[in-house]
Amino acid sequence: MNRQLHSPPMIELIKVSKQYPPDVVALKEVSLSIATGEMFFVIGRSGAGKTTLLKLICSMETPSNGLIEIAGQPIHQLKGRHRAKLRQRIGVAYQDFKLLIDRTTAENIAISMEVSYKKPQLIRKRVRSLLEQLDLADKHDSITGELSRGEQQRVTLARAIANSPAIILVDEPTGNLDAATTERVMNLLHKCNKSGATVVIATHDDSIYRDTSHRVLELRTGRLVNPVEEVSG
Ligand SMILES: Nc1ncnc2c1ncn2[C@@H]1O[C@H](COP(=O)(O)OP(=O)(O)O)[C@@H](O)[C@H]1O
Ligand SMILES: [Mg+2]
Repeated sequence: MNRQLHSPPMIELIKVSKQYPPDVVALKEVSLSIATGEMFFVIGRSGAGKTTLLKLICSMETPSNGLIEIAGQPIHQLKGRHRAKLRQRIGVAYQDFKLLIDRTTAENIAISMEVSYKKPQLIRKRVRSLLEQLDLADKHDSITGELSRGEQQRVTLARAIANSPAIILVDEPTGNLDAATTERVMNLLHKCNKSGATVVIATHDDSIYRDTSHRVLELRTGRLVNPVEEVSG
């Protein structure tokens, strides 16, 4: 029954280090294996390396050392079309949003589905459903640059998951949200996970991982510290 025990890892890091010029060591020999269909929390203080870890996994940054495999493929060694194809299977909700701020909420969310040639009717339905679940139904036609930070954050999440990617990476998804909205966001992420997505959440908001049954790993100045996860089992 337990899919996680039988599938190869979806995300594998082997002794991955990342140094930013001139001499910032953001990650130091991080080894980590995340199973297909797992939900996984990366925690740690500001500056610990959480965002860097997510950027390496989605190949937005290149590791200085070590190997990263996504679905068994060395994503950083892949070229052009092959890398792009793998990259399309990863949805990322960035900490700094990266929305098209002069476009509407609906347009921003639709983008990931349009690039994979989904039918317009399907896209419209999915966008409305996501907006509803995130309590943003009335923001469908709002220009995202005019939304509050908490609203932009949820649009970013909706865009990341719209196309039902195999891997979902979310960076501080609840940083600007009240408790009720945080719960909505987490419900949606759990739903994605239950549908089979591998979900990695970087956060310093302990309210979202305090009582979780999923794995929680802590980064401290770029190193993974003793697994907290065994405690919560
Ligand atoms: N593009 C960059 N250039 C130089 N240093 C960076 C860059 N991005 C992050 N850092 C540094 O790397 C370290 C880890 O940052 P980050 O991964 O953003 O941590 P977190 O997300 O846990 O707050 C910090 O010391 C940060 O200042
Ligand atoms: Mg960060």
